[in-house]
Amino acid sequence: MGKGFHISKTVGIVGIVLGAGALATIIALSVVYSQEKSKNENEVQPPDATTSAPTATPSNEPWDQWRLPQTLSPQTYNVTLWPRLKPDPTGLYIFTGMSSVAFRCEEKTNLILIHSNKLNMTKQPTLTALGSKPAPTIESIVMHTKTQYMAIHLKDELAAGESYELYTEFIGELADDLGGFYRSEYNESGVKKVVATTQMQPTDARKAFPCFDEPAMKAVFYITLYHDPATIALSNGVFTSDEQVSDGTLVTRTTFAPTEVMSTYLLAFIVSDFGFIEQNTDKLQIRIFARQEAINAGQGEYALNVTGPILKFFEKYYNVPYPLPKSDQIALPDFNAGAMENWGLITYRETALLYDEEISSNGNKESIVTIIAHELAHQWFGNLVTLRWWNDLWLNEGFASYVEYLGADDAEPDWNVKDLIVLNDVHRVFAIDALASSHPLSFKEEEIQRPEQINEVFDTISYSKGASVLRMLSDFLTETVFTQGLQTYLDYFKFSNTVYTDLWHHLQLAVNGTGTSLPKSVQEIMDRWVLQMGFPVVTINTTTGQITQEHFLLDPESKPDRTSEFKYVKKYFERKKKGYFFYGLLDTLNVDEWVLANINVTGYYRVNYDNDNWQRLLNALQNSRQSIPVINRAQLIDDAFNLAKAGIIETTLALRTTLFLNSETEYMPWEAALDNLDYFYLMFDRTEVYGPMQVSLLLSNIYSLYSCLCICRYNQINALRVACSTGNEDCKTLITGWFEQLMANPNVNLIKANLRSTVYCSAIAAGGEEEWNFAWEMFENATIASEKDKLRAAMACATEPWLLNRYLKYTLDPEKIRKQDATSTIISIASNVVGQPLAWDFVRANWEYGGGSFSFSNLINGVTKRFSTQFELQQLIQFRDDNTHIGFGSGTLAIEQSIERTNANIKWVEKNQEAVLEWFKKPS
Ligand SMILES: *[C@@H]1O[C@H](CO)[C@@H](O)[C@H](O)[C@H]1NC(C)=O
Ligand SMILES: *[C@@H]1O[C@H](CO)[C@@H](O)[C@H](O)[C@H]1NC(C)=O
Ligand SMILES: *[C@@H]1O[C@H](CO)[C@@H](O)[C@H](O)[C@H]1NC(C)=O
Ligand SMILES: *[C@@H]1O[C@H](CO)[C@@H](O)[C@H](O)[C@H]1NC(C)=O
Ligand SMILES: *[C@@H]1O[C@H](CO)[C@@H](O)[C@H](O)[C@H]1NC(C)=O
Ligand SMILES: *[C@@H]1O[C@H](CO)[C@@H](O)[C@H](O)[C@H]1NC(C)=O
Ligand SMILES: *[C@@H]1O[C@H](CO)[C@@H](O)[C@H](O)[C@H]1NC(C)=O
Ligand SMILES: [Zn+2]
Repeated sequence: MGKGFHISKTVGIVGIVLGAGALATIIALSVVYSQEKSKNENEVQPPDATTSAPTATPSNEPWDQWRLPQTLSPQTYNVTLWPRLKPDPTGLYIFTGMSSVAFRCEEKTNLILIHSNKLNMTKQPTLTALGSKPAPTIESIVMHTKTQYMAIHLKDELAAGESYELYTEFIGELADDLGGFYRSEYNESGVKKVVATTQMQPTDARKAFPCFDEPAMKAVFYITLYHDPATIALSNGVFTSDEQVSDGTLVTRTTFAPTEVMSTYLLAFIVSDFGFIEQNTDKLQIRIFARQEAINAGQGEYALNVTGPILKFFEKYYNVPYPLPKSDQIALPDFNAGAMENWGLITYRETALLYDEEISSNGNKESIVTIIAHELAHQWFGNLVTLRWWNDLWLNEGFASYVEYLGADDAEPDWNVKDLIVLNDVHRVFAIDALASSHPLSFKEEEIQRPEQINEVFDTISYSKGASVLRMLSDFLTETVFTQGLQTYLDYFKFSNTVYTDLWHHLQLAVNGTGTSLPKSVQEIMDRWVLQMGFPVVTINTTTGQITQEHFLLDPESKPDRTSEFKYVKKYFERKKKGYFFYGLLDTLNVDEWVLANINVTGYYRVNYDNDNWQRLLNALQNSRQSIPVINRAQLIDDAFNLAKAGIIETTLALRTTLFLNSETEYMPWEAALDNLDYFYLMFDRTEVYGPMQVSLLLSNIYSLYSCLCICRYNQINALRVACSTGNEDCKTLITGWFEQLMANPNVNLIKANLRSTVYCSAIAAGGEEEWNFAWEMFENATIASEKDKLRAAMACATEPWLLNRYLKYTLDPEKIRKQDATSTIISIASNVVGQPLAWDFVRANWEYGGGSFSFSNLINGVTKRFSTQFELQQLIQFRDDNTHIGFGSGTLAIEQSIERTNANIKWVEKNQEAVLEWFKKPS
């Protein structure tokens, strides 16, 4: 109750008002949707029609389609793979394999289309019948590299209702390309070691063995791995047996129990000499794997401690037992994403799983528990029940990104982890979803076809907007009803596939089960958030009592090509007049009473007020900030800064929302302010505003906060970071002193784990070549991934251009900077004011070369986020035009978003520079 709006306690009749707040809001924000829908249906072009390569002779042959025909459906696979962890005489790392797939013929056909990418067949594939009718003979086999199929043409037809088995033998490269079956390398005690591991999602299982590689083509998998006797093999199923066989040398052949019915993208095969720790209960085996050094140092312990409790939490939350007999989690030295939820064998980047009491920070620990909760949540939602196609990815990722906070909160109840969704997801995605080049959560199935389109769907909108709107829905239905619907959904669809509206249906059943009814169906309510892009700004005018809303666009002059309308539905307006809403109430407000909407930011919208109410809120922040919930103290700052960016309120009003921070001790409001002030730094650190900003009261006060050690989980870090970067001399002296001590005696690092990122960065910024080289040596020596990451980011803080240029070159050399880290290193360099132009030149010079190895959209957004001049805009447009022949792959949308953001920045700087300069000279 009372979650949509919050009114200061002096206002009477609160009860009546609040009862309907959340409900009224969510509906109020509805669109008259049918219009929008019919518009979309008339739109012929998919989002990136430009790259859909119209072929000269369009072909309708099945092998030219990106989707498999529905003629065959796989039942079981029997896959045997043998990765070689030593190069062959030509220096190539390879794996060999044999696979048979039993499938049922659903419709008669003389064609077997099966995915296969970069595999060479070493033997003629064979087809056998599993029923009484003989199998047709194979006429020809054609590999289609573009659509990644092996097409097997048959002399006669397969018969509907009959089952057949296709057998293949093949060889593939075990490349260091982070996709499919790939290799990861690391050094241990001076010895180079190789791990064979996999990343199948979304479309790379076909790079490990021929398969029907679509999420709805679920099957049972029998897996066998050959490997060196000194190594261990892991897969999704539990180990059943191993035996030594001789193939000239002795090899171990490990077999695994058949999997449950599952999708190909969730498979995993790993061969390594890793160590592990485990925890066994009668029904479940939990293990954490990592490099032996890391396991021996106890770095897996935290993950092992939290996994059992989180699994228990989700069993209760979903009301479905954990579906498998074991849960393995493994930290890999080379891993592209943060983690991957392979069923029963979850893979992680080292920093996402390994924790060291001495060296990791609290922030590291928190992201570890959150990522673990995210992946464990998928073991049911995503793995047991799987979305039918990638166009609905947002539901899978949005859901896990929402409940990860619930799981983490259960494991670490003292941390207020749940609140952080507002900073980490809601505020973050607002910044992107406010662009005219944003996109709706949901795509149509036919809009997402090719692998690069599928990859592009894994973006902030899917994760963070998905999480935000599901949190809103859960809040609005109440958690009891939400989980009730979720539970029947999982039970009904287990081991099969769904579309997102199936969840709405089950939530509706749960709503109906309560005997109450919503004014609109779950689906109608959610369509507004799912089928159109963007979000509204709700304006509450306390002088007139009027409430209005419109699509919030950061650049009010931008023209979205998909329109989003946010309108009150007339009917509910009328209900408000009957006192159901606070419409009438506002007329009676006294001047010293404030109104605050969107309590705890459970709603996916921003709020603006009339000037008088803003003043009253500012007073409340100054004089009685405890009367405003902490999340809303952060919200007021973030909303104000963004409304100012969009030209809706004055920038000085936004700046004034930060004045109360002098007495604020909570993390969230500070973080919201610093996030927004970062924008000021980006825009102004090359201008005359920089000086006054540096000496402003607000920022210098932050240093005094440093002495407040009570709440210092993060604030101490923020305090030190800002104080040193604003040139506070005490701070600089303190930090360089610490770093000098470390350089004098590298074996004894006394710098506290939580402060290391900041200390390293500040010391390297203040230092020169010697400090940088020392940091590089520490980076190379470090055996703990989180320590390596801190050093890697800190080295980007250097202020000498030649050091930064040399560092940029290192990102092209995987011996120096792992491929998985290249993009984030370049982005770190670009966020340094000295490094920005260097990184931009570097990206432009290497775009062609960079080809497939960088994650494009992050890279483009990262290196251009400071752009705020006409000159930079021209360069960006030139860059786009110059490279149309190479294309931008999964960064296509990011280029457009960067151009739009640069335009908005240019206008904002022109409009605000003077006022901001004045304000920082004399804040009021
Ligand atoms: C808002 O969030 C806080 C936690 O930060 C919680 O204690 C409070 O109950 C929430 N308020 C509402 C109205 O849900
Ligand atoms: C899988 O294939 C291997 C090798 O071809 C064979 O030995 C084994 O029996 C097969 N397993 C199943 C379950 O068919
Ligand atoms: C597969 O065949 C191609 C073309 O002959 C060759 O270049 C490639 O090296 C082969 N791959 C492997 C792993 O043998
Ligand atoms: C894991 O749990 C054990 C037993 O409760 C505890 O002693 C240990 O400190 C925990 N380790 C970590 C890293 O949290
Ligand atoms: C829920 O109840 C409404 C109104 O009685 C009905 O129209 C709708 O079909 C029900 N929905 C489900 C999923 O049972
Ligand atoms: C609120 O209403 C008053 C009176 O109509 C108007 O002058 C003012 O501009 C409105 N403020 C906002 C923020 O809409
Ligand atoms: C790195 O390791 C080498 C060899 O163990 C050692 O001599 C050197 O002092 C280490 N450097 C740093 C900065 O830790
Ligand atoms: Zn996920």
